[in-house]
Amino acid sequence: MGVFATTEDPGSSGHEQVVFCQDKQTGLKAIIGIYSTALGPALGGTRFYPYASESDALADVLDLSRGMAYKNALAGLDLGGGKAVIWGDPERIKSEALLRAYGRFVESLAGRYYTACDVGTYVADMDVIARETSYVTGRSVEHGGAGDSSILTAWGVFQGMRAAAEHVWGAPTLAGRRVGVAGLGKVGKYLVGHLIDDGAEVVATDVNPRALEWARATHPQVTLVDDAAALVAADIDVYAPCALGGALNDDTVPALRAKVVAGAANNQLAHSGIEKLLADRGILYAPDYVVNAGGVIQVADEIEGFNFDRAKLRATRIYDTTREILRLADAEGVPPAVAADRLAERRMADVGRLRTIHLR
Ligand SMILES: NC(=O)c1ccc[n+]([C@@H]2O[C@H](COP(=O)([O-])OP(=O)(O)OC[C@H]3O[C@@H](n4cnc5c(N)ncnc54)[C@H](O)[C@@H]3O)[C@@H](O)[C@H]2O)c1
Repeated sequence: MGVFATTEDPGSSGHEQVVFCQDKQTGLKAIIGIYSTALGPALGGTRFYPYASESDALADVLDLSRGMAYKNALAGLDLGGGKAVIWGDPERIKSEALLRAYGRFVESLAGRYYTACDVGTYVADMDVIARETSYVTGRSVEHGGAGDSSILTAWGVFQGMRAAAEHVWGAPTLAGRRVGVAGLGKVGKYLVGHLIDDGAEVVATDVNPRALEWARATHPQVTLVDDAAALVAADIDVYAPCALGGALNDDTVPALRAKVVAGAANNQLAHSGIEKLLADRGILYAPDYVVNAGGVIQVADEIEGFNFDRAKLRATRIYDTTREILRLADAEGVPPAVAADRLAERRMADVGRLRTIHLR
C-alpha cells in the first residue's frame, strides 16, 4: 500500500503523516502513522511485534492508524487517529533505553500523536515512555494513569450488546438470552460478570486452562465448551468474540447459530464481504470498533486528568452510538459495519471542518 493518496492511485492510504524512527544503539525501529488529526491529536497504541519485514510493519501501522481514526470519531472523542509499531521481538530487545528513545520520537511530534498500550506493550512500558514525553496515556494509576483499560472495554461491549439485543428482540437486556463468550481474558472476564448480573445464561470457552479454572471457581453456572468452533455451533442467541481477530470468517459465519454478534476482539471480520454474509444470514453484527471503544475512552480520559466516573459515563454512551448505527443501517439499507464507517466519516468531516472558522 502506498502512503500518498492520489486520484491515480485510489488504493493508497491517505495518511497525514508517517514517521520512521531509528536509534541504532538501542535497536529501535519504529513507525508512527497519523491518519487524521481532523478531530484533534491522533491517539492510538504502540504495537511491539517481530514483523517479518519492514513492509509488513508499515502495512500494519497504516491499517491500524486508520482504524483508530474511525474508532475515536465514533467514540465521540476530540481525538484523531494514529498508531505506532516498533519492529522487533519485545522479549529480546525491549529495554528502558529503547522505550525512552521511542518516547523522545513521540515527543518530537509535539502533541500531534499520543501513544498508549497495544500488543506487546504494557502499562509499565508507558510509565517508562512518559519519562521522555507527555504525549502518552495508559500509564499506571500511581503515575496518574487510567490503569487497566479492559474494565471499560468490557462495560462498553456490554452496552453495545444491549443496543443490539433491543434492535433484534425489542428490549435492551440480555436477560434470558444465551450468550457465548470466546476468550476469558482481561475483557472476557469482566464481560461475563456484566452478563450474569443482567440475567443472561453464559456459555464460554478459552484455550488457556487457567481461564477455565477461573470460570469454574468464580461463576460455576457458566457452561464451558471445548473450543470456539463448538461455541459457534452451540444453541446461543449472542456470540461475543473476545479473543483474537478474524473470528468471523468463511467457516464460522455459515455455522453460526446466534442472531447477534457483539464482542471485544479487534478486526473480527476476516475479510471484507463478511459483513454482507452476516447480513444475508440475518445475523446482526455490532461493529467491533464501535462496541470495543471503552478502552480508548478510558485512556483518552487520562489526557484531561483521569476520572473513572466521567470515563464510564462516556463508555455507557456506546449504547446510544450502537443504536444510532443500527438505525442508520436499516434506513440506508446497508450492513451496520458500512453504516458505522459512514457515521465516523461524517463526524470527521462535519466537526473537523469547524477548525476552518478562524478564531484569532
Ligand atoms: N483490553 C482492552 O482494553 C481491549 C480494548 C479493545 C479491544 N480489545 C481486544 O479484545 C480482545 C481481548 O482482549 P484482552 O485484553 O481480554 O486480551 P487477553 O489476552 O487478556 O485475553 C484473550 C483471551 O483469549 C484466549 N484465547 C486466545 N485464543 C483463543 C481461541 N482460539 N479460542 C478461545 N480463546 C482464546 C486467551 O487464552 C485469553 O484468555 C483482543 O482482540 C483485543 O485486541 C481489548
